[in-house]
Order: sequence, then structure tokens, then C-alpha cells
Amino acid sequence: MVLKTPDELAVMDRANSLVHDTLRLVAEAAAPGVSTKELDRLAEEHIRAGGGRPAFKGYHGYPATLCTSVNDVIVHGIPSADHKLRNGDVMGLDCGVVLDGFIGDAAITVPIGDMAPEAKRLLDVTRECLELAVEVVRPGSRLTDIGAVIQKHAEAAGFSVVRQLVGHGIGRSMHEDPQVYNFGPGGRGPALRPGLVLAIEPMVNAGVSGVMFDDDGWTARTEDGKLSAHFEYSVAVTENGPWVLGVGGA
Ligand code: MF3
Ligand code: CO
Repeated sequence: MVLKTPDELAVMDRANSLVHDTLRLVAEAAAPGVSTKELDRLAEEHIRAGGGRPAFKGYHGYPATLCTSVNDVIVHGIPSADHKLRNGDVMGLDCGVVLDGFIGDAAITVPIGDMAPEAKRLLDVTRECLELAVEVVRPGSRLTDIGAVIQKHAEAAGFSVVRQLVGHGIGRSMHEDPQVYNFGPGGRGPALRPGLVLAIEPMVNAGVSGVMFDDDGWTARTEDGKLSAHFEYSVAVTENGPWVLGVGGA
């Protein structure tokens, strides 16, 4: 596990600020009739104007700046000119930026037009899973405490946690050790130490937890076709507690 210096954390905070700015801009533009490709273009322009470059584009051959994961797509939906958003959709927006040698990575799930009550509950619960997980990111916690709070909250609401996809350490590389599970018993794994940065990304399904992949090798969908939601923050451990990079905290 690579620990970051305070100066490096300041760079990662700026990288994540650009990510969150971009997510806000894209979320405002997302509406019925807009294609996911148009949103991707908007994101790339904004990132480059801000002095960064897209972190996902070219990563193991991934072709775009954003992941746009609509309805039963859990994560890694590829933006397409043919895919126009429709009223009542929910869309995961995942964005990564490289700025001054460090990666920022965050995701939100947003409604397109009107949102059904059950979709709203799924989005609210998944966001709460992430917020509860953030509170764990402090010296004295163990790594698996994160997944334990996520699983408990999601399942108490009657939803299921995706097990095949995980969060990760992050820094100069997008995926560093350790893997961050969204389920399992707490109190295990390494102790969290100041300078560690974790991309925590609960993926919560309305129905079963199983995943299947499209032929493109990226698009991950729920096995039962029911809705899925995804929220992600890059969070630094500090002496004073969690620092949600690009957003705020200790
Ligand atoms: N937030 C995702 C992750 O950490 C985004 C990766 S998309 C990829 O795995 F295309 F870059 F892989
Ligand atoms: Co990530």
C-alpha cells in the first residue's frame, strides 16, 4: 500500500475537484433525449479545459471519458451516440481524471426526469452506504470495516450488494492495493493509516447481487435486469479522520 504525503494529497484533492465539477456539469446536462456520447464529449472538454486528462480513456482499451451506466447496468457502461436517455432512467456517472501525475476517481447516480419511488430509495440507500463507509476511514479502523457497514445498510433496506466488483487504493495509478470489498465481516485486514487513499464504491442492486457482462467485455449488468446504483468517493485517511478528496472533510 502506497501512503501519500500531505503535498501529494493536495494534488489528489485538486484532481478530484475537477472530477466532481465534471460530474456536476454532466448531471445538469443529462435529460431525456440527450445521448450518453454527448455527455462524454462535454466531460472530456471540461477536463481538458481544467488542465487534466481523462483517466479511463485508453485504460485497458476503455474507449471513453465517462462510464454511463443506465438502469440495470451496474458499472462500466460505454457512452454511445445511439443511446439517448429517456424519462425515468437512472444513470451512474463514473469519471476519472489525471492531474499533475495523480488520479481522481468518483461516481454518482442521477435520475433522468421523473424518478419512481423505488428508484429513489435505491439511490438514497446507496449514497448512505458510501457516507457510512466514509465515516470508517480513520486511524483505528481495519480495512474490512468498510465493507461491513456497506453490506449491513444495503441489506437492511432489502437490497443486495454486488460482490464481483470492488473499490481500490488509488494514487499515481488508478488501481493500487488494497482491494476494498463492499461486503463481508469487519475487523479484518490491515489497519488504516494516515496517507492511505481508498476509492470506495458501493454498487447496490434492487434485486439479486449477480453480475453479467455484455459482449463488449465492459458493460456489467444485473442478472435479473433490475436497477442498480453506484456512488464513489476517493477518501484519504488523516490523523483527524476522513478527507473526501475534491469535496471536503478533515
Ligand atoms: N471507477 C471505476 C474503477 O475504479 C472506473 C474504471 S473504468 C475503466 O474501476 F474503464 F477505466 F476501467
Ligand atoms: Co474506482
